[in-house]
Amino acid sequence: MLNVTPNSVGSVAPPAGVVGVGFSPTADDSRVISGTVGDIKAADPRMTARNVDVYYGDKQAIKDVSLDIGKNEVIAMIGPSGCGKSTFLRCLNRMNDTIDGCRVEGRIMLDDQDIYDRKMDVVPLRAQVGMVFQKPNPFPKSIYDNVAYGPRIHGLTDNKQELDEIVEQSLIKAGLWDEVKDRLDSSGTGLSGGQQQRLCIARTIAVAPEVILMDEPCSALDPIATARVEELIDELREQYTIAIVTHSMQQAARVSQRTAYFHLGELVEVGKTDDIFTNPSHRLTEDYITGRFG
Ligand SMILES: Nc1ncnc2c1ncn2[C@@H]1O[C@H](COP(=O)(O)OP(=O)(O)O)[C@@H](O)[C@H]1O
Ligand SMILES: [Mg+2]
Repeated sequence: MLNVTPNSVGSVAPPAGVVGVGFSPTADDSRVISGTVGDIKAADPRMTARNVDVYYGDKQAIKDVSLDIGKNEVIAMIGPSGCGKSTFLRCLNRMNDTIDGCRVEGRIMLDDQDIYDRKMDVVPLRAQVGMVFQKPNPFPKSIYDNVAYGPRIHGLTDNKQELDEIVEQSLIKAGLWDEVKDRLDSSGTGLSGGQQQRLCIARTIAVAPEVILMDEPCSALDPIATARVEELIDELREQYTIAIVTHSMQQAARVSQRTAYFHLGELVEVGKTDDIFTNPSHRLTEDYITGRFG
């Protein structure tokens, strides 16, 4: 058991000049973000989360987290089990709305839209900010219909030829086309685990998202399927912004440009992935990446 109470997170003095590098409170960012070491900001942010608190009933699962998700970056979220990675990820497309008793406070913007605005329609939001889950979850439908599902329900097209084109392009981008092009009518659930996960990625891509959230997308896959999905993540970065939760530090190091380290619901440290893994500033980050706990 770690001898750390939530309030002591961030109390280990980091080297001078490290706290909140590049962050200065403005009218917009009125509260000082004191708990996080490193630069929470991205040069070209796509999403900005500010002072986010999440509660499940009376229990607080996320404490005052502020973080930018930068355009065309892969940001990895790491930390011990139960530290709030999935909870924070779900805030970014309001998936927590579906959980009874879950309350989100703070402000999260996608470009210039406040995604928690009362007028926000979550259905298109979840197309703009798509999600890939831990366990591949294709629908019990054909490969074609899995990918065509989103474009159909979002009314992207009612033209069969256009839909065929979207399905093909999405499967190409997900690196699955060559493996399935001759059996688009077979069931998606009949594919291997790695193929199913790439099918789920194709399904997400089919509705033209801006941001893709991935919650431990490889944890149910074998090493070869994992390598394939990791390569894919790197290719997708050219067109999309990706936030990935992973329990694998090796994976975070391989796929991401920035890494955010969470601990007991707080964002302890964020920075360039290389820096986080070679020269972490916070002792808790160092303890985690050196395997002292986790
Ligand atoms: N649906 C839920 N209802 C109540 N508590 C939850 C729920 N989901 C997560 N939690 C709690 O919130 C905290 C963070 O969980 P989670 O975001 O799943 O962490 P991680 O993804 O880092 O393992 C944990 O203490 C967990 O028990
Ligand atoms: Mg999780």
